Formats: sequence, C-alpha cells, structure tokens
Amino acid sequence: MWVRYYAEGVKSDLFPIDLADSEATVALGHELGKAAKAGETIALVGDLGAGKTTLCQGLMSALGYEGEVTSPTFSLVQEYLGGQLEVFHFDFYRVNDEHELLDLGWDDYIDRKGLILVEWPQLFPELLPADTSWIHLHHLEIGRRAESYLIPRK
Ligand SMILES: Nc1ncnc2c1ncn2[C@@H]1O[C@H](COP(=O)(O)OP(=O)(O)O)[C@@H](O)[C@H]1O
Ligand SMILES: [Mg+2]
Repeated sequence: MWVRYYAEGVKSDLFPIDLADSEATVALGHELGKAAKAGETIALVGDLGAGKTTLCQGLMSALGYEGEVTSPTFSLVQEYLGGQLEVFHFDFYRVNDEHELLDLGWDDYIDRKGLILVEWPQLFPELLPADTSWIHLHHLEIGRRAESYLIPRK
C-alpha cells in the first residue's frame, strides 16, 4: 500500500500532475531540481519508457549540469559532478541482489551527501533512506502522470 507524500521543499500542489509531452516531464524535473537539497534521495518508479530518465534530465539542467544524462542500466550508477550538487544516478533494473549495490559502495554514496536519483527503486526499497521522496510515473493514453508517495516502512 502506498501513502501519498509530498516531497519537502516542493510545493504541495505540484502532484499529481499530468505531463502531456516529454517537455512537460523535463519541466517537472526542473522544478524538482530547483527544490533539491544535498543529502536527499529521489526514487523514480515507473515502467520502461515512463519518463524517469527524462525527469532526471530536467532535474540536472536545473542544477546547471551540462553533461549527458542517461539511464545507468549497465553501469548501475553514474556520477554527475560539476553542477550545483554532486548527483549519483542509479538504476536498479539489472541489479540481481542488493549485495551488488553494497559492493559498488552504496553506503559511501549515501554518506557523500549529494543528491541520489534512483530508477527502479522498488526492487530494493530497503536500501533507500527513510526520508526518500518517491515519485511514480504512469503512462496515460497520451502523455504521463506523476504522483508522489512515501513507501510505508515495516
Ligand atoms: N510526458 C511525456 N509524454 C510523452 N512522452 C514522454 C513523456 N515524458 C517522457 N517521454 C518520452 O518517453 C520516452 C522514454 O522516456 P525515458 O525517460 O527514457 O523513460 P524511462 O527512463 O522511464 O524508461 C522518451 O522518448 C521520452 O522523451
Ligand atoms: Mg530510464
């Protein structure tokens, strides 16, 4: 069961929001990027093609990052350095076991107090900090819908 949650620092009227095209997804990412703070984690849930990476692209542009932003599906993590915050972009899609993430230095990434973005976070939800902001992207017939949730903790 998911519980509705509004990320701290983001206006509560931001969610739910319908995103008519990829520019709207980028624009939402931009709003999230403007509100992002060091030490935060943003978890992006959604099927393949739901717009998770597109949201990250908008977010990174708000932070002044000029490099490429793509799903780190095979590398598992990409580091975006040189923007206003250090950002670590994870993709759990191809992770078989949480030990792969721990071996990659997951705890060190958390300790670095950058901004952490995670695609497919629901595969290993127990790794995510308790104050993670959860954003869920759904396909609509045309476009996408974004909602924000907090996953209940046991
Ligand atoms: N709101 C939207 N409406 C229509 N297409 C979108 C929207 N947001 C993103 N897209 C497009 O969907 C495709 C997949 O987006 P992507 O961000 O790679 O998805 P994901 O990372 O969730 O797999 C891209 O071509 C992107 O431009
Ligand atoms: Mg992606």
